[in-house]
Amino acid sequence: MTDRILMAPSILSADFTRLADAISLVESAGADFIHVDVMDGHFVPNLTIGPPVIRALKRITNVPLDVHLMIDDADTTVGWYLDAGADWVTVHVEACDHLHRIVQQIHAAGAKAGVALNPASPPEAISEIIADLDLVLVMSVNPGFGGQAYIPTSADKVARIAEMIRDSGSKALIEVDGGIDEKTASLVSEAGARVLVAGNAIFGRPDPGAALNAIRDAAQVDAGGWA
Ligand code: DX5
Ligand code: ZN
Repeated sequence: MTDRILMAPSILSADFTRLADAISLVESAGADFIHVDVMDGHFVPNLTIGPPVIRALKRITNVPLDVHLMIDDADTTVGWYLDAGADWVTVHVEACDHLHRIVQQIHAAGAKAGVALNPASPPEAISEIIADLDLVLVMSVNPGFGGQAYIPTSADKVARIAEMIRDSGSKALIEVDGGIDEKTASLVSEAGARVLVAGNAIFGRPDPGAALNAIRDAAQVDAGGWA
């Protein structure tokens, strides 16, 4: 395992009329994932993009698509995203009736499986599935929108999940999503986060590539906890 902080720019904050340009920019800057936020207007109060856009993005980049499903009933629709070319698929623990089955289905399709926890959901909610996961996504804002402020208790939650991962022998990476910038990145990387999602702090800046690497560098300095 490399000790590098992995960056997952969220295209939610990019210009939707120029997604290909946004992706090519962060791809050149060394993005490790393209984070794609799928929202259904039910699980979260916002509606974004779905399988046709994921299929189109897949044609223009080789960077793995990290698809974050903020949707009700992923149990019946996860196949749409797998067919569209999602490389990593993350479902919310709060929105799945059959989490074990859905993780198996993601793996059977050859993709990596993640489970996301909302700010009010305890780490224990994933204790029975953690050993099967490739990724645990800790929401550090309430899901639905870019540009919100980081919730300060998130780093402690990351640390508790890191401990669960160690105890269970899981190989899961911890990803943090929401309000991550040059200042908050080190808080969560010190606690054990390995993948950082950032939308506004990358695409809201004049030079998104430089911003991506500034966040990575800020997190890397203090990443001794897991390196
Ligand atoms: C929020 C999404 C995030 C969002 C993060 O529900 O899951 O991925 O794009 O945006 P920032 O980094 O601006 O908080
Ligand atoms: Zn997200």
